[in-house]
Amino acid sequence: SKGGMMGIETKFKFKSKAASLLVGVSMLAMSSTASGLETLPEDKSMSGMKIELVGRDDLWTYKSCDNYNESPLTKSYVDAGKLPPVNERMPKEPWMAKTDQMVDGIGEYGGTFRHVIGGRPEGFNWLAGQSQGWGGINIQLMESLTRLGPLWQIKPDEANPLPNLAKDWEWSSDRKSLTMNLIEGARWSDGDIFDTEDIDFWWNDNVQDANVASRLPKDALGAGTTLEILGPYSFKFNFDEPKGNAVLAQLAYMGGAPGPSHVMKPLHPAHNSDATYESYANGMPASVLPIVTLGAYVPVVHKVDELMVMKRNPYYWKVDEECNQLPYYNETIYKLTSWDDRTTQALAGTGDFSNMENPGNYVEALKQNKDPNSPVKSVFGTRLIAWDLMMNLSSDFGVSSDYERELRQLFRNVEFRKAISHAMDRDTMGQSVARGPFFHPHAGGFVAGSPFHNFEDSIYYGYNASGANSILDGLGLKDSDGNGIRNLPNGGADLVIDILHSSTRSTDIKLADAAVSMFEAIGIKPVLKPSDNTDAFTDNGNWSMFIAREHWVVATKNIGDRLPTTTQNPAWHRDNGGDLLPFEETLVEKAKGILATNDLSEVASLARDIQRVRTENVYTVGLIQAPAALLINKRIKNNHPGAPVYMYEWAEDGVMRERLYTPKADQLDEFLPGVLAEYK
Ligand code: GLA
Repeated sequence: SKGGMMGIETKFKFKSKAASLLVGVSMLAMSSTASGLETLPEDKSMSGMKIELVGRDDLWTYKSCDNYNESPLTKSYVDAGKLPPVNERMPKEPWMAKTDQMVDGIGEYGGTFRHVIGGRPEGFNWLAGQSQGWGGINIQLMESLTRLGPLWQIKPDEANPLPNLAKDWEWSSDRKSLTMNLIEGARWSDGDIFDTEDIDFWWNDNVQDANVASRLPKDALGAGTTLEILGPYSFKFNFDEPKGNAVLAQLAYMGGAPGPSHVMKPLHPAHNSDATYESYANGMPASVLPIVTLGAYVPVVHKVDELMVMKRNPYYWKVDEECNQLPYYNETIYKLTSWDDRTTQALAGTGDFSNMENPGNYVEALKQNKDPNSPVKSVFGTRLIAWDLMMNLSSDFGVSSDYERELRQLFRNVEFRKAISHAMDRDTMGQSVARGPFFHPHAGGFVAGSPFHNFEDSIYYGYNASGANSILDGLGLKDSDGNGIRNLPNGGADLVIDILHSSTRSTDIKLADAAVSMFEAIGIKPVLKPSDNTDAFTDNGNWSMFIAREHWVVATKNIGDRLPTTTQNPAWHRDNGGDLLPFEETLVEKAKGILATNDLSEVASLARDIQRVRTENVYTVGLIQAPAALLINKRIKNNHPGAPVYMYEWAEDGVMRERLYTPKADQLDEFLPGVLAEYK
């Protein structure tokens, strides 16, 4: 019935005392909508895996050797006089992988590691937020101050960010300053020393320069934060207020990755009067190789839409316990095709690695598991990936007409967002992607596999099309011209709404397709807008609704990507200065609380508050959540069992690729044998 709010069944199902605190708030909301307040149905994990957790010092340390060993490939360059001897290329105390946690032990040099990806390198200036094509390229190039990926293996009470370029740090007793010490004497791939000049440039000319679209937005560590350089290898952050370990999580991939200041500083407008911010952002184009990096491999060949070849970095600052310089592979290659192809090729054995996150392939993968000759085995983990429908909550940013301005006001109305959530039939959506037990409904925010998620905290406005219709009626959105489409109030325009989605990710496409009839059932006309670069839209604000992968697992990580802790984030509410909704202010307060504490139980409790506020207010409309499986070819050794596709970071970091290797007999021929990056 469209007869108004009385027709909707109102259910309360409180499972915890905490959730019942929300009654007061929701009763107010009820007066206009009578939308049921339920929590997300419980679900069993599909993963039966037990992982043996270790201590934070068990994976690696920093230690010097009297003499280092190197690959025959770099040795040939030393012999030819093109590189200094390995002992001179290493830092004072290299990062050293511990053999105990390398399941197949010390590796063998040589061979190639084949990736297949769906992304394309935009450029290499990660300082200015450019993407290198994802699927592992970024992670491989952007070495960061701290590291999160391997934390899935660490005992929860020790699971604070791990050292990487910053080898240790110390908080002042009032926690208003943090002193960090860099690894000493590590070098960029062209031999230049990595030191606090790079940190100074990263922070002052990129992060804190609002004209640069850095991954860590201005003020992400709190307004008033300043950087003090103490020496070539040590620096200090000074904060306005006490902070905690969550700050360290913001300094991991991607926010805390410095770039080569000796290359980029001369191109930055603050240091070059001929430069513009645009010329700076494009200062390391994808077509000019090799680039300078601290990563294990250096891109040397890029054939557009075909291939990227990366060769070992002769200055890489990591070793194993036998003093062998890492990595073990001479080369990694990235075939530039599609994300689905990544899984297809991993299953076929022509690619070595895939995060199987496209559930359309799951059934096939499970079948293949029964074949002992299959090149990979798929092991499903907990539900860690999810898809949401986002509505653009900015009042003005990217608005190009009065109609859009009115739409944005609708999106900012929680009753409208609840109606959209009630319109989404998650079961049908899930089945349209893959038949079988793979999906569970999602309420947005933390996914079920997150240690920060409790089902009773996820307020869920489940499928109820007639309820959705009643809410929309109540908002005055009637079909005033009788053409089957609701109009804006007072005989306004038809409710025709763009839905942005990726044109290169099969799950996103299927979900958007499935949503069409669900929108029609509530009198809204959706117009699908597929794009191979959805970032471009979220960057300029020119979008209305957006269906995309969106999953939060770790409360301390990327807080700014998920909550409006800066004016530039999250993607669905950019340029939010003075524009925040009251519940967003609450979220910001909670987020600040996470950044300000060193008490993990307080983080957990704040995360629970965030999940309740976020889902009750339908910050984003959660759609479905699924487990994923990591596919790594059996030739590849040291792949630690149980590595999740995504938890603290993508598996590309979680498996610690610098330690992977293939025994000599099974190594594949390199695409470019005998070659290393050479700089003029
Ligand atoms: C893309 C892929 C993910 C993962 C990341 C790594 O987003 O879809 O599976 O490989 O890149 O950055």
